[in-house]
Amino acid sequence: RDGAYVPALVVGTGYGAAVTALRLAEAGVRTLMLEMGQLWTRPGPDGKVFCGMLAPDRRSTWFRRRTAAPMASFLWLDVVDRPVEPYAGVLDRVDFGAMSVYAGRGVGGGSLVNGGMAVVPRRSYLREVLPRVDVREMYGRYFPRARAGLRVNGVDRAWFEGTEWYRYSRVAREQAGRAGHGTVFLDNVYDFGHMRREAAGKAPKSALATELIYGNNHGRMSLDKTYLAAALGTGRVTVAALHRAVAIRPHADGYVVTVERSDASGRRLGTREIACRHLFLGGGSLGTTELLLRARETGTLPRLGREIGEGWGPNGNVMTARANLPLHPTGCHQSTVPVLGIDAWDDPRHPVFAEITPVPAGIETWISLYLAITRNPERGTFTYDRRTGRMGLRWEHGQSKPAVRSARAFFDRMNRANGTDYRYDLFGPRPRAFADDFTYHPLGGCVLGRATDDYGRVKGYRHLYVTDGALIPGSLGVNPFVTITALAERNVERVLRQDVLPAARRDRS
Ligand code: FDA
Repeated sequence: RDGAYVPALVVGTGYGAAVTALRLAEAGVRTLMLEMGQLWTRPGPDGKVFCGMLAPDRRSTWFRRRTAAPMASFLWLDVVDRPVEPYAGVLDRVDFGAMSVYAGRGVGGGSLVNGGMAVVPRRSYLREVLPRVDVREMYGRYFPRARAGLRVNGVDRAWFEGTEWYRYSRVAREQAGRAGHGTVFLDNVYDFGHMRREAAGKAPKSALATELIYGNNHGRMSLDKTYLAAALGTGRVTVAALHRAVAIRPHADGYVVTVERSDASGRRLGTREIACRHLFLGGGSLGTTELLLRARETGTLPRLGREIGEGWGPNGNVMTARANLPLHPTGCHQSTVPVLGIDAWDDPRHPVFAEITPVPAGIETWISLYLAITRNPERGTFTYDRRTGRMGLRWEHGQSKPAVRSARAFFDRMNRANGTDYRYDLFGPRPRAFADDFTYHPLGGCVLGRATDDYGRVKGYRHLYVTDGALIPGSLGVNPFVTITALAERNVERVLRQDVLPAARRDRS
Protein backbone atom coordinates (compact mmCIF):
# COMPACT_ATOMS: atom_id res chain seq x y z
CA ARG A 1 0.00 0.00 0.00
CA ASP A 2 1.15 3.53 -0.57
CA GLY A 3 -0.27 6.96 -0.23
CA ALA A 4 0.13 8.47 -3.70
CA TYR A 5 -1.81 11.61 -4.58
CA VAL A 6 -2.69 12.94 -8.02
CA PRO A 7 -4.87 15.94 -8.85
CA ALA A 8 -6.82 13.93 -11.46
CA LEU A 9 -7.32 10.19 -11.61
CA VAL A 10 -8.88 8.54 -14.66
CA VAL A 11 -10.07 4.93 -14.47
CA GLY A 12 -9.71 3.16 -17.83
CA THR A 13 -7.96 4.04 -21.08
CA GLY A 14 -10.81 3.67 -23.61
CA TYR A 15 -12.46 6.50 -25.56
CA GLY A 16 -14.02 8.53 -22.77
CA ALA A 17 -10.94 8.12 -20.58
CA ALA A 18 -8.44 9.03 -23.29
CA VAL A 19 -10.26 12.21 -24.29
CA THR A 20 -10.54 13.26 -20.66
CA ALA A 21 -6.87 12.65 -19.87
CA LEU A 22 -5.70 14.56 -22.95
CA ARG A 23 -7.83 17.62 -22.25
CA LEU A 24 -6.93 17.65 -18.53
CA ALA A 25 -3.23 17.41 -19.33
CA GLU A 26 -3.42 20.13 -22.01
CA ALA A 27 -4.94 22.40 -19.36
CA GLY A 28 -1.93 21.71 -17.11
CA VAL A 29 -3.48 19.11 -14.79
CA ARG A 30 -1.28 16.18 -13.76
CA THR A 31 -3.26 13.01 -14.48
CA LEU A 32 -2.87 9.32 -13.70
CA MET A 33 -4.73 6.70 -15.77
CA LEU A 34 -5.43 3.22 -14.42
CA GLU A 35 -5.91 0.32 -16.82
CA MET A 36 -6.72 -3.24 -15.75
CA GLY A 37 -5.39 -4.66 -19.05
CA GLN A 38 -1.89 -4.69 -20.47
CA LEU A 39 0.14 -2.16 -22.38
CA TRP A 40 0.30 -3.87 -25.76
CA THR A 41 3.76 -3.01 -27.05
CA ARG A 42 5.93 -6.07 -26.42
CA PRO A 43 6.10 -8.69 -29.19
CA GLY A 44 5.44 -12.34 -28.38
CA PRO A 45 7.65 -15.26 -29.44
CA ASP A 46 6.41 -14.91 -33.04
CA GLY A 47 7.67 -11.34 -33.19
CA LYS A 48 4.11 -9.95 -33.18
CA VAL A 49 2.28 -8.03 -30.47
CA PHE A 50 -1.16 -9.48 -31.35
CA CYS A 51 -2.32 -12.81 -32.72
CA GLY A 52 -4.63 -13.23 -35.71
CA MET A 53 -8.18 -14.59 -35.70
CA LEU A 54 -7.41 -17.92 -37.37
CA ALA A 55 -4.74 -19.05 -34.90
CA PRO A 56 -5.60 -17.41 -31.60
CA ASP A 57 -3.32 -17.93 -28.62
CA ARG A 58 -3.37 -16.65 -25.05
CA ARG A 59 -2.92 -13.04 -26.23
CA SER A 60 -6.43 -13.18 -27.72
CA THR A 61 -8.53 -13.69 -24.62
CA TRP A 62 -9.00 -12.22 -21.16
CA PHE A 63 -8.57 -15.01 -18.57
CA ARG A 64 -10.37 -17.98 -20.10
CA ARG A 65 -9.33 -21.52 -20.89
CA ARG A 66 -10.86 -21.29 -24.37
CA THR A 67 -11.27 -18.44 -26.78
CA ALA A 68 -14.85 -17.17 -27.04
CA ALA A 69 -15.28 -15.88 -30.60
CA PRO A 70 -18.62 -14.33 -31.64
CA MET A 71 -19.00 -16.62 -34.67
CA ALA A 72 -18.23 -19.82 -32.83
CA SER A 73 -18.92 -22.66 -35.26
CA PHE A 74 -18.90 -23.67 -38.91
CA LEU A 75 -21.31 -26.36 -40.15
CA TRP A 76 -22.17 -26.61 -36.42
CA LEU A 77 -18.63 -27.84 -35.80
CA ASP A 78 -16.65 -26.44 -32.92
CA VAL A 79 -13.73 -25.47 -35.18
CA VAL A 80 -13.32 -21.78 -34.35
CA ASP A 81 -12.41 -21.58 -30.67
CA ARG A 82 -9.11 -22.89 -29.30
CA PRO A 83 -7.88 -23.85 -25.85
CA VAL A 84 -5.69 -21.10 -24.39
CA GLU A 85 -3.81 -20.50 -21.19
CA PRO A 86 -5.58 -18.02 -18.89
CA TYR A 87 -3.89 -14.69 -19.48
CA ALA A 88 -4.54 -10.95 -19.63
CA GLY A 89 -5.46 -11.19 -23.35
CA VAL A 90 -6.95 -8.32 -25.29
CA LEU A 91 -10.59 -9.38 -25.83
CA ASP A 92 -12.92 -10.08 -22.93
CA ARG A 93 -16.39 -11.59 -23.01
CA VAL A 94 -18.36 -11.03 -19.85
CA ASP A 95 -21.21 -13.54 -19.55
CA PHE A 96 -24.44 -12.53 -17.79
CA GLY A 97 -26.87 -15.39 -18.45
CA ALA A 98 -28.98 -14.31 -21.42
CA MET A 99 -26.51 -11.64 -22.56
CA SER A 100 -22.74 -11.59 -23.05
CA VAL A 101 -20.74 -8.43 -23.52
CA TYR A 102 -17.52 -8.17 -25.54
CA ALA A 103 -14.98 -5.55 -24.44
CA GLY A 104 -11.37 -4.66 -25.11
CA ARG A 105 -8.78 -4.99 -22.33
CA GLY A 106 -5.56 -3.07 -22.51
CA VAL A 107 -4.23 0.45 -22.89
CA GLY A 108 -6.65 1.77 -25.51
CA GLY A 109 -9.72 -0.22 -24.35
CA GLY A 110 -12.16 -1.11 -27.13
CA SER A 111 -10.03 0.69 -29.72
CA LEU A 112 -7.62 -2.28 -29.70
CA VAL A 113 -10.21 -4.85 -30.80
CA ASN A 114 -13.15 -3.15 -32.45
CA GLY A 115 -14.10 -2.96 -36.13
CA GLY A 116 -12.94 0.66 -36.25
CA MET A 117 -16.23 1.76 -37.87
CA ALA A 118 -16.49 5.46 -37.13
CA VAL A 119 -20.15 6.29 -37.62
CA VAL A 120 -21.93 9.48 -36.59
CA PRO A 121 -25.53 8.85 -35.47
CA ARG A 122 -28.57 10.39 -37.07
CA ARG A 123 -29.27 13.82 -35.68
CA SER A 124 -32.93 13.01 -35.02
CA TYR A 125 -32.10 9.80 -33.14
CA LEU A 126 -29.37 11.40 -31.04
CA ARG A 127 -31.89 14.09 -30.06
CA GLU A 128 -34.32 11.38 -29.02
CA VAL A 129 -31.72 9.37 -27.08
CA LEU A 130 -30.02 12.31 -25.34
CA PRO A 131 -32.73 14.97 -25.27
CA ARG A 132 -30.76 17.28 -22.98
CA VAL A 133 -27.74 17.47 -25.26
CA ASP A 134 -27.60 20.37 -27.71
CA VAL A 135 -27.35 18.54 -31.05
CA ARG A 136 -26.30 21.69 -32.93
CA GLU A 137 -23.27 21.94 -30.71
CA MET A 138 -22.55 18.20 -31.05
CA TYR A 139 -22.62 18.20 -34.86
CA GLY A 140 -21.02 21.61 -35.23
CA ARG A 141 -18.19 21.24 -32.77
CA TYR A 142 -17.74 17.93 -30.93
CA PHE A 143 -18.26 15.34 -33.67
CA PRO A 144 -15.75 17.11 -35.96
CA ARG A 145 -13.31 17.37 -33.03
CA ALA A 146 -13.73 13.68 -32.21
CA ARG A 147 -13.30 12.59 -35.85
CA ALA A 148 -10.12 14.64 -36.15
CA GLY A 149 -8.73 13.34 -32.84
CA LEU A 150 -9.50 9.75 -33.84
CA ARG A 151 -7.99 10.21 -37.34
CA VAL A 152 -11.07 8.94 -39.11
CA ASN A 153 -10.64 8.19 -42.82
CA GLY A 154 -12.57 6.56 -45.66
CA VAL A 155 -11.81 3.90 -48.25
CA ASP A 156 -10.93 5.10 -51.75
CA ARG A 157 -14.06 4.33 -53.78
CA ALA A 158 -12.29 3.45 -57.02
CA TRP A 159 -9.97 1.04 -55.21
CA PHE A 160 -12.91 -0.46 -53.34
CA GLU A 161 -14.75 -1.17 -56.59
CA GLY A 162 -11.84 -3.12 -58.03
CA THR A 163 -10.17 -4.97 -55.20
CA GLU A 164 -10.64 -8.66 -54.44
CA TRP A 165 -10.49 -7.79 -50.72
CA TYR A 166 -13.95 -6.18 -50.83
CA ARG A 167 -15.77 -8.55 -53.14
CA TYR A 168 -17.80 -9.68 -50.11
CA SER A 169 -19.07 -6.12 -49.60
CA ARG A 170 -19.92 -5.60 -53.26
CA VAL A 171 -21.82 -8.90 -53.42
CA ALA A 172 -23.84 -7.96 -50.32
CA ARG A 173 -24.47 -4.48 -51.76
CA GLU A 174 -25.86 -5.95 -54.96
CA GLN A 175 -28.18 -8.19 -53.00
CA ALA A 176 -29.34 -5.32 -50.81
CA GLY A 177 -30.13 -3.46 -54.02
CA ARG A 178 -32.32 -6.31 -55.23
CA ALA A 179 -34.30 -5.99 -52.01
CA GLY A 180 -34.67 -2.26 -52.59
CA HIS A 181 -32.07 -1.11 -50.07
CA GLY A 182 -29.23 1.31 -50.60
CA THR A 183 -25.85 1.13 -48.90
CA VAL A 184 -23.64 3.78 -47.37
CA PHE A 185 -19.86 3.87 -47.04
CA LEU A 186 -18.67 3.73 -43.45
CA ASP A 187 -15.61 5.65 -42.33
CA ASN A 188 -13.06 3.88 -40.19
CA VAL A 189 -9.96 4.45 -38.08
CA TYR A 190 -8.01 1.77 -39.92
CA ASP A 191 -5.53 3.57 -42.18
CA PHE A 192 -6.79 2.80 -45.69
CA GLY A 193 -3.51 4.07 -47.15
CA HIS A 194 -1.80 1.29 -45.22
CA MET A 195 -4.41 -1.22 -46.41
CA ARG A 196 -3.75 -0.36 -50.05
CA ARG A 197 -0.03 -0.82 -49.47
CA GLU A 198 -0.85 -4.20 -47.86
CA ALA A 199 -2.78 -5.17 -50.98
CA ALA A 200 0.11 -4.05 -53.19
CA GLY A 201 2.59 -6.11 -51.14
CA LYS A 202 4.39 -2.97 -49.99
CA ALA A 203 3.49 -3.07 -46.29
CA PRO A 204 3.10 -5.86 -43.75
CA LYS A 205 -0.42 -7.31 -43.86
CA SER A 206 -2.81 -6.89 -40.95
CA ALA A 207 -6.43 -6.23 -42.02
CA LEU A 208 -5.61 -8.33 -45.07
CA ALA A 209 -4.15 -11.09 -42.88
CA THR A 210 -7.23 -11.87 -40.75
CA GLU A 211 -6.26 -9.55 -37.89
CA LEU A 212 -8.97 -7.57 -36.10
CA ILE A 213 -10.82 -8.62 -32.95
CA TYR A 214 -7.64 -9.79 -31.21
CA GLY A 215 -5.78 -6.63 -32.21
CA ASN A 216 -4.01 -5.42 -35.36
CA ASN A 217 -0.25 -5.43 -35.67
CA HIS A 218 -0.38 -2.65 -38.31
CA GLY A 219 -2.74 -0.11 -39.79
CA ARG A 220 -5.14 0.42 -36.90
CA MET A 221 -5.24 3.95 -35.49
CA SER A 222 -6.17 2.80 -32.00
CA LEU A 223 -6.22 5.27 -29.12
CA ASP A 224 -2.62 4.53 -28.18
CA LYS A 225 -1.68 6.08 -31.56
CA THR A 226 -4.07 9.04 -31.30
CA TYR A 227 -5.58 10.52 -28.12
CA LEU A 228 -3.40 8.58 -25.68
CA ALA A 229 -0.20 9.32 -27.61
CA ALA A 230 -1.11 13.02 -27.51
CA ALA A 231 -1.92 12.81 -23.80
CA LEU A 232 1.42 11.14 -23.01
CA GLY A 233 3.15 13.72 -25.22
CA THR A 234 2.11 16.49 -22.83
CA GLY A 235 4.39 14.99 -20.17
CA ARG A 236 1.57 15.29 -17.61
CA VAL A 237 -0.09 11.91 -18.03
CA THR A 238 1.04 8.60 -16.57
CA VAL A 239 -0.59 5.29 -17.45
CA ALA A 240 -0.49 2.42 -14.97
CA ALA A 241 -1.34 -0.84 -16.77
CA LEU A 242 -2.46 -4.03 -15.01
CA HIS A 243 -3.91 -1.76 -12.31
CA ARG A 244 -7.57 -2.47 -11.58
CA ALA A 245 -9.61 0.04 -9.58
CA VAL A 246 -11.80 -1.91 -7.17
CA ALA A 247 -13.17 0.54 -4.61
CA ILE A 248 -13.85 4.25 -4.14
CA ARG A 249 -14.31 6.18 -0.95
CA PRO A 250 -14.48 9.90 -0.26
CA HIS A 251 -11.43 11.57 1.18
CA ALA A 252 -10.83 15.23 2.04
CA ASP A 253 -11.87 17.22 -1.05
CA GLY A 254 -11.78 14.17 -3.34
CA TYR A 255 -11.51 10.38 -3.29
CA VAL A 256 -9.27 7.46 -2.47
CA VAL A 257 -9.30 4.64 -4.98
CA THR A 258 -8.18 1.15 -4.03
CA VAL A 259 -6.24 -0.46 -6.83
CA GLU A 260 -5.28 -4.11 -7.29
CA ARG A 261 -2.08 -4.79 -9.19
CA SER A 262 -1.36 -8.05 -10.96
CA ASP A 263 0.90 -9.48 -13.61
CA ALA A 264 -0.26 -10.67 -17.02
CA SER A 265 -0.76 -14.21 -15.79
CA GLY A 266 -3.17 -12.94 -13.12
CA ARG A 267 -0.84 -13.22 -10.12
CA ARG A 268 -1.74 -10.59 -7.53
CA LEU A 269 1.11 -8.19 -6.83
CA GLY A 270 -0.57 -6.19 -4.09
CA THR A 271 -2.92 -3.31 -3.45
CA ARG A 272 -2.35 0.44 -3.75
CA GLU A 273 -4.41 3.32 -2.50
CA ILE A 274 -4.35 6.43 -4.63
CA ALA A 275 -5.88 9.71 -3.55
CA CYS A 276 -7.11 12.34 -5.96
CA ARG A 277 -9.10 15.55 -6.09
CA HIS A 278 -11.05 14.79 -9.30
CA LEU A 279 -12.05 11.24 -10.20
CA PHE A 280 -13.12 10.38 -13.76
CA LEU A 281 -14.62 6.97 -14.45
CA GLY A 282 -13.93 5.69 -17.97
CA GLY A 283 -14.01 1.93 -17.42
CA GLY A 284 -16.74 1.50 -20.06
CA SER A 285 -20.41 0.71 -19.48
CA LEU A 286 -19.57 -2.34 -17.36
CA GLY A 287 -16.42 -1.16 -15.58
CA THR A 288 -17.79 2.23 -14.54
CA THR A 289 -21.19 0.95 -13.46
CA GLU A 290 -19.61 -1.82 -11.37
CA LEU A 291 -17.42 0.63 -9.45
CA LEU A 292 -20.35 2.92 -8.64
CA LEU A 293 -22.74 0.10 -7.80
CA ARG A 294 -20.17 -1.41 -5.45
CA ALA A 295 -19.62 1.97 -3.80
CA ARG A 296 -23.35 2.40 -3.28
CA GLU A 297 -24.05 -1.13 -2.10
CA THR A 298 -21.07 -1.37 0.26
CA GLY A 299 -21.88 2.05 1.67
CA THR A 300 -18.67 3.88 0.75
CA LEU A 301 -20.66 6.36 -1.39
CA PRO A 302 -24.10 6.05 0.21
CA ARG A 303 -25.65 9.09 -1.48
CA LEU A 304 -25.48 7.45 -4.94
CA GLY A 305 -28.99 7.15 -6.34
CA ARG A 306 -31.11 4.28 -7.64
CA GLU A 307 -30.34 5.40 -11.20
CA ILE A 308 -26.87 3.85 -10.96
CA GLY A 309 -27.12 0.52 -12.79
CA GLU A 310 -30.21 1.44 -14.82
CA GLY A 311 -30.85 2.15 -18.49
CA TRP A 312 -28.54 -0.49 -19.98
CA GLY A 313 -28.94 -1.86 -23.49
CA PRO A 314 -26.99 -3.80 -26.15
CA ASN A 315 -27.62 -1.19 -28.91
CA GLY A 316 -30.06 -3.64 -30.50
CA ASN A 317 -27.15 -5.80 -31.76
CA VAL A 318 -28.06 -8.94 -33.71
CA MET A 319 -25.70 -10.94 -35.91
CA THR A 320 -26.95 -13.02 -38.79
CA ALA A 321 -25.66 -14.58 -41.99
CA ARG A 322 -27.06 -15.51 -45.39
CA ALA A 323 -25.96 -18.39 -47.61
CA ASN A 324 -25.34 -17.08 -51.11
CA LEU A 325 -25.97 -19.04 -54.26
CA PRO A 326 -22.89 -20.70 -55.81
CA LEU A 327 -22.82 -18.08 -58.57
CA HIS A 328 -22.20 -15.36 -55.97
CA PRO A 329 -18.90 -16.18 -54.29
CA THR A 330 -17.82 -13.70 -51.62
CA GLY A 331 -14.07 -14.36 -52.02
CA CYS A 332 -11.25 -16.20 -50.24
CA HIS A 333 -9.55 -12.88 -49.57
CA GLN A 334 -11.53 -10.58 -47.30
CA SER A 335 -10.39 -7.43 -45.54
CA THR A 336 -11.36 -7.59 -41.88
CA VAL A 337 -12.33 -3.89 -41.92
CA PRO A 338 -16.02 -3.37 -42.81
CA VAL A 339 -16.77 -0.43 -45.08
CA LEU A 340 -20.43 -0.72 -46.13
CA GLY A 341 -23.69 -0.51 -44.24
CA ILE A 342 -27.26 -1.00 -45.39
CA ASP A 343 -29.29 1.86 -44.04
CA ALA A 344 -32.91 0.89 -43.43
CA TRP A 345 -33.31 3.00 -40.29
CA ASP A 346 -36.23 4.86 -41.86
CA ASP A 347 -38.38 1.73 -41.91
CA PRO A 348 -41.18 2.81 -39.56
CA ARG A 349 -41.81 -0.66 -38.10
CA HIS A 350 -38.44 -2.35 -38.25
CA PRO A 351 -35.58 0.14 -38.40
CA VAL A 352 -32.27 -1.62 -39.11
CA PHE A 353 -28.76 -0.43 -39.79
CA ALA A 354 -26.95 -3.54 -41.06
CA GLU A 355 -23.21 -3.57 -41.44
CA ILE A 356 -21.68 -5.92 -43.97
CA THR A 357 -18.97 -7.76 -42.08
CA PRO A 358 -16.32 -10.17 -43.36
CA VAL A 359 -15.82 -13.89 -42.88
CA PRO A 360 -12.04 -13.90 -43.25
CA ALA A 361 -11.69 -17.68 -43.22
CA GLY A 362 -9.15 -17.83 -46.07
CA ILE A 363 -11.49 -20.11 -48.07
CA GLU A 364 -14.60 -19.47 -50.12
CA THR A 365 -17.65 -19.73 -47.83
CA TRP A 366 -20.40 -18.00 -49.89
CA ILE A 367 -21.47 -16.34 -46.66
CA SER A 368 -22.73 -12.78 -46.24
CA LEU A 369 -22.41 -11.89 -42.57
CA TYR A 370 -24.03 -8.87 -40.93
CA LEU A 371 -24.01 -6.97 -37.70
CA ALA A 372 -27.49 -5.48 -37.49
CA ILE A 373 -28.12 -2.55 -35.18
CA THR A 374 -31.83 -2.37 -34.40
CA ARG A 375 -34.04 -0.22 -32.28
CA ASN A 376 -34.83 -2.27 -29.21
CA PRO A 377 -36.65 -0.33 -26.46
CA GLU A 378 -35.92 -3.00 -23.82
CA ARG A 379 -33.50 -2.04 -21.04
CA GLY A 380 -31.54 -4.07 -18.53
CA THR A 381 -30.56 -3.28 -14.95
CA PHE A 382 -27.31 -4.10 -13.22
CA THR A 383 -27.42 -5.76 -9.82
CA TYR A 384 -24.74 -6.22 -7.18
CA ASP A 385 -24.07 -9.37 -5.20
CA ARG A 386 -22.61 -8.39 -1.83
CA ARG A 387 -21.47 -11.93 -1.13
CA THR A 388 -19.30 -12.27 -4.24
CA GLY A 389 -18.68 -8.56 -4.73
CA ARG A 390 -19.62 -8.94 -8.39
CA MET A 391 -22.06 -7.26 -10.69
CA GLY A 392 -24.89 -9.07 -12.46
CA LEU A 393 -27.21 -7.97 -15.27
CA ARG A 394 -30.96 -8.39 -15.25
CA TRP A 395 -31.64 -9.09 -18.92
CA GLU A 396 -34.09 -11.84 -19.94
CA HIS A 397 -33.77 -13.70 -23.20
CA GLY A 398 -37.19 -12.34 -24.25
CA GLN A 399 -35.82 -8.80 -24.12
CA SER A 400 -33.83 -9.46 -27.29
CA LYS A 401 -37.02 -10.37 -29.21
CA PRO A 402 -37.80 -6.88 -30.57
CA ALA A 403 -34.30 -6.75 -32.05
CA VAL A 404 -34.68 -10.16 -33.67
CA ARG A 405 -38.13 -9.27 -35.02
CA SER A 406 -36.68 -6.27 -36.84
CA ALA A 407 -33.66 -8.20 -38.10
CA ARG A 408 -35.90 -11.02 -39.30
CA ALA A 409 -38.25 -8.68 -41.16
CA PHE A 410 -35.30 -7.07 -42.89
CA PHE A 411 -33.31 -10.20 -43.77
CA ASP A 412 -36.39 -12.21 -44.80
CA ARG A 413 -36.85 -9.49 -47.42
CA MET A 414 -33.21 -9.84 -48.48
CA ASN A 415 -33.55 -13.61 -48.79
CA ARG A 416 -36.82 -13.40 -50.73
CA ALA A 417 -35.34 -10.93 -53.20
CA ASN A 418 -32.24 -13.06 -53.75
CA GLY A 419 -33.62 -16.60 -53.54
CA THR A 420 -31.37 -17.32 -50.56
CA ASP A 421 -31.67 -18.57 -46.97
CA TYR A 422 -30.03 -17.99 -43.63
CA ARG A 423 -26.97 -19.86 -42.37
CA TYR A 424 -28.05 -21.72 -39.25
CA ASP A 425 -24.66 -23.22 -38.35
CA LEU A 426 -22.48 -20.29 -37.29
CA PHE A 427 -23.58 -19.37 -33.79
CA GLY A 428 -23.06 -22.53 -31.76
CA PRO A 429 -24.20 -26.14 -31.74
CA ARG A 430 -27.96 -25.64 -32.06
CA PRO A 431 -29.35 -24.38 -35.38
CA ARG A 432 -30.18 -20.69 -35.26
CA ALA A 433 -30.17 -17.83 -37.71
CA PHE A 434 -29.84 -14.91 -35.26
CA ALA A 435 -27.25 -14.34 -32.55
CA ASP A 436 -29.10 -12.11 -30.11
CA ASP A 437 -27.29 -13.09 -26.94
CA PHE A 438 -24.15 -11.00 -27.21
CA THR A 439 -23.28 -7.40 -27.87
CA TYR A 440 -20.25 -5.43 -28.96
CA HIS A 441 -21.95 -2.19 -27.95
CA PRO A 442 -22.77 -2.14 -24.23
CA LEU A 443 -24.37 1.22 -23.46
CA GLY A 444 -25.73 2.73 -20.28
CA GLY A 445 -25.71 1.97 -16.57
CA CYS A 446 -24.99 5.58 -15.49
CA VAL A 447 -27.16 7.54 -17.88
CA LEU A 448 -26.51 11.20 -18.65
CA GLY A 449 -29.10 13.45 -17.05
CA ARG A 450 -30.32 10.67 -14.74
CA ALA A 451 -27.43 9.08 -12.78
CA THR A 452 -25.34 12.16 -13.61
CA ASP A 453 -26.10 15.77 -14.42
CA ASP A 454 -26.08 16.90 -18.05
CA TYR A 455 -22.26 16.84 -18.18
CA GLY A 456 -21.44 13.51 -16.52
CA ARG A 457 -21.10 14.76 -12.92
CA VAL A 458 -22.32 11.92 -10.69
CA LYS A 459 -25.37 13.04 -8.71
CA GLY A 460 -24.87 13.28 -4.96
CA TYR A 461 -21.09 13.83 -5.11
CA ARG A 462 -18.64 16.56 -6.11
CA HIS A 463 -15.59 15.96 -8.29
CA LEU A 464 -16.82 12.53 -9.45
CA TYR A 465 -17.51 12.04 -13.16
CA VAL A 466 -18.60 9.40 -15.69
CA THR A 467 -16.92 9.83 -19.08
CA ASP A 468 -17.75 6.76 -21.19
CA GLY A 469 -20.40 4.59 -22.83
CA ALA A 470 -22.20 4.20 -19.49
CA LEU A 471 -23.71 7.65 -20.17
CA ILE A 472 -25.68 6.58 -23.27
CA PRO A 473 -29.05 4.98 -22.47
CA GLY A 474 -28.81 1.62 -24.22
CA SER A 475 -29.29 2.52 -27.87
CA LEU A 476 -27.69 4.79 -30.45
CA GLY A 477 -28.66 3.37 -33.83
CA VAL A 478 -25.03 3.21 -35.00
CA ASN A 479 -21.69 1.99 -33.63
CA PRO A 480 -20.91 4.06 -30.58
CA PHE A 481 -17.27 5.11 -30.26
CA VAL A 482 -17.43 8.38 -32.21
CA THR A 483 -20.37 9.48 -30.06
CA ILE A 484 -18.66 8.40 -26.83
CA THR A 485 -15.60 10.40 -27.91
CA ALA A 486 -17.61 13.48 -28.89
CA LEU A 487 -19.67 13.41 -25.70
CA ALA A 488 -16.49 13.12 -23.62
CA GLU A 489 -15.06 16.13 -25.51
CA ARG A 490 -18.20 18.10 -24.71
CA ASN A 491 -18.34 17.12 -21.05
CA VAL A 492 -14.68 17.57 -20.20
CA GLU A 493 -14.66 21.07 -21.73
CA ARG A 494 -17.39 22.12 -19.31
CA VAL A 495 -15.97 20.28 -16.29
CA LEU A 496 -12.50 21.74 -16.83
CA ARG A 497 -13.88 25.25 -17.04
CA GLN A 498 -16.31 25.04 -14.14
CA ASP A 499 -14.75 22.53 -11.74
CA VAL A 500 -11.13 21.56 -12.30
CA LEU A 501 -9.45 24.85 -13.21
CA PRO A 502 -11.24 26.92 -10.52
CA ALA A 503 -10.17 24.33 -7.89
CA ALA A 504 -6.57 24.56 -9.11
CA ARG A 505 -6.72 28.38 -8.96
CA ARG A 506 -8.08 28.25 -5.40
CA ASP A 507 -5.15 26.01 -4.40
CA ARG A 508 -2.65 28.46 -5.80
CA SER A 509 -4.11 31.52 -4.10
P1 FDA B 1 -13.85 1.06 -23.36
O1 FDA B 1 -14.47 -0.26 -23.14
O2 FDA B 1 -13.28 1.37 -24.69
O3 FDA B 1 -12.65 1.24 -22.32
C1 FDA B 1 -12.75 0.93 -20.97
C2 FDA B 1 -11.37 0.56 -20.46
O4 FDA B 1 -11.38 0.59 -19.05
C3 FDA B 1 -10.92 -0.84 -20.86
O5 FDA B 1 -9.60 -0.78 -21.36
C4 FDA B 1 -11.00 -1.64 -19.57
O6 FDA B 1 -10.04 -2.67 -19.51
C5 FDA B 1 -10.73 -0.57 -18.53
N1 FDA B 1 -11.34 -0.83 -17.22
C6 FDA B 1 -12.60 -1.22 -16.95
N2 FDA B 1 -12.82 -1.30 -15.62
C7 FDA B 1 -11.65 -0.95 -15.04
C8 FDA B 1 -11.24 -0.86 -13.68
N3 FDA B 1 -12.06 -1.13 -12.66
N4 FDA B 1 -9.95 -0.49 -13.42
C9 FDA B 1 -9.09 -0.21 -14.45
N5 FDA B 1 -9.43 -0.29 -15.76
C10 FDA B 1 -10.70 -0.64 -16.04
N6 FDA B 1 -17.70 0.62 -31.84
C11 FDA B 1 -17.67 1.42 -32.93
O7 FDA B 1 -18.01 2.59 -32.83
N7 FDA B 1 -17.30 0.89 -34.14
C12 FDA B 1 -16.96 -0.42 -34.30
O8 FDA B 1 -16.61 -0.86 -35.40
C13 FDA B 1 -17.00 -1.26 -33.15
N8 FDA B 1 -16.72 -2.59 -33.24
C14 FDA B 1 -16.56 -3.35 -32.09
C15 FDA B 1 -16.08 -4.65 -32.18
C16 FDA B 1 -15.79 -5.36 -31.00
C17 FDA B 1 -15.27 -6.76 -31.09
C18 FDA B 1 -16.01 -4.75 -29.74
C19 FDA B 1 -15.70 -5.47 -28.47
C20 FDA B 1 -16.51 -3.47 -29.67
C21 FDA B 1 -16.80 -2.75 -30.83
N9 FDA B 1 -17.26 -1.44 -30.78
C22 FDA B 1 -17.32 -0.68 -31.91
C23 FDA B 1 -17.64 -0.83 -29.50
C24 FDA B 1 -16.60 0.14 -28.96
O9 FDA B 1 -15.32 -0.47 -28.94
C25 FDA B 1 -17.04 0.56 -27.56
O10 FDA B 1 -18.29 1.20 -27.68
C26 FDA B 1 -16.06 1.53 -26.93
O11 FDA B 1 -14.78 0.95 -26.82
C27 FDA B 1 -16.54 1.97 -25.56
O12 FDA B 1 -15.73 3.02 -25.12
P2 FDA B 1 -15.64 3.38 -23.59
O13 FDA B 1 -14.81 4.62 -23.46
O14 FDA B 1 -17.00 3.38 -23.03
O15 FDA B 1 -14.88 2.15 -22.87
